[in-house]
Amino acid sequence: MSGSFIDDADALSPGHTADPSADRAAVNLVVIDSDETSRHDLVSQAGAEVVGFATIADLVPYLDGEIVVLVLGPTCIVDGSLPAIEQVLRDHSELGAILVAEDITTSLLTQALRAGVKDVIAAPIDQEQLAESIVRATPTKVVVAKDAATASASTDQVFEADGELGKVITVFSTKGGAGKSVIAANLAVVLADRSEKPVCLVDADLQFGDIAVMLKLSPQHTVVDAVNSLDRLDETLIQSLLVTHESSGLLILPAPLEPAFADQIGAPEVTQIIELLRRFCSHVVVDTPAYFNDVVLGLIEMSDEVLLVAGMDIPNIKNVKIGLQTLRLLNTPMEKLRLVLNRSNSKVMLDVGEVERNLQVTADALIPSDIVVPQAVNRGVPVVQSAPRSGVTKAIEQLADLFSPQPSPTAKSKKRRK
Ligand SMILES: Nc1ncnc2c1ncn2[C@@H]1O[C@H](COP(=O)(O)OP(=O)(O)OP(=O)(O)O)[C@@H](O)[C@H]1O
Ligand SMILES: [Mg+2]
Repeated sequence: MSGSFIDDADALSPGHTADPSADRAAVNLVVIDSDETSRHDLVSQAGAEVVGFATIADLVPYLDGEIVVLVLGPTCIVDGSLPAIEQVLRDHSELGAILVAEDITTSLLTQALRAGVKDVIAAPIDQEQLAESIVRATPTKVVVAKDAATASASTDQVFEADGELGKVITVFSTKGGAGKSVIAANLAVVLADRSEKPVCLVDADLQFGDIAVMLKLSPQHTVVDAVNSLDRLDETLIQSLLVTHESSGLLILPAPLEPAFADQIGAPEVTQIIELLRRFCSHVVVDTPAYFNDVVLGLIEMSDEVLLVAGMDIPNIKNVKIGLQTLRLLNTPMEKLRLVLNRSNSKVMLDVGEVERNLQVTADALIPSDIVVPQAVNRGVPVVQSAPRSGVTKAIEQLADLFSPQPSPTAKSKKRRK
């Protein structure tokens, strides 16, 4: 098969819109498949103006920094082209990729995701599914160039360290579903709004982290990329791996896209990354899984503050009690622990005083239960933004007061004008 640019030889740039529909109007699509029939089929299914390339190498000369989503045809998985595609995806953070496969198996999914593919869809492609997949695969804003070697330290998007280390706040619970991610994400958004310096949210729920989904982000990079470049990781490179939550300015280091990657990441790696982040951030908020593992223990040890989240039912209280005992056994200084009672107004048989007596700890924050929380989660918008006047928002703002004072109204408007 010739490696030439086949389907639209006069179109010099791959920057052609696949479909005039509003969703996809801004996304440039190209099809890659070395099998001519398969490529033609995909091009015609994906949209009249999509350009087809036989190989990824044929596409590279046309890349000009514009965001492009690659639709990889079924042949890519069998013709050995995946490593070359992986390399190009690594080198070009402006590219997103979707794989179209005849038969989706776990091993195919693993191979594809490891190569940097964001989504796998079944052939023949369905237009609606393709449109959704393109949204997922479209890279979000790239903060700076992907590689430190190519990143310019003079770019104004690189935040300088000023010698003062940011506070590390770990949000933990020994009970799944207690509200850790909701509290971590919203606290981080409030802190980002108040802080002059950057605030970073790290998703250390390495297997099942859902911060990216909760904030409707399609990350191009995750903590896996940071761990893979640990030997040369510096402030510029780590910043290039963070995703920006546009409406708040919060920086996010997402969890791996696949649970299997969690195995590659241990406490020393996570600690090293967070030590780097705190050099240029005022606060690093860390979300965690609902159990103790070496990463969580390392985080608790290095954190300035540990928020222990508990729900208002007996299993929650029982598990949090065990968690507290474990922390005491590990000689965790109790001064850095703060109890956050979530759904504190739940109409259950427990009241706050009873819970505090049982745990022998006074609650530092009471977050009410409110339908606005799941509504916000489902919309992918932080509740502090979608329901700014709700009791939940007020409670999270009070929680944030513990770590960062409320800015005066004038300071706030100044920050907005910047
Ligand atoms: N204060 C609240 N009021 C109403 N619903 C809430 C509240 N806090 C959390 N929830 C809901 O509870 C669910 C679990 O919340 P969240 O994902 O934050 O928990 P988690 O502790 O991170 O869970 P996991 O252990 O699975 O990571 C979410 O669907 C969220 O909408
Ligand atoms: Mg969670």
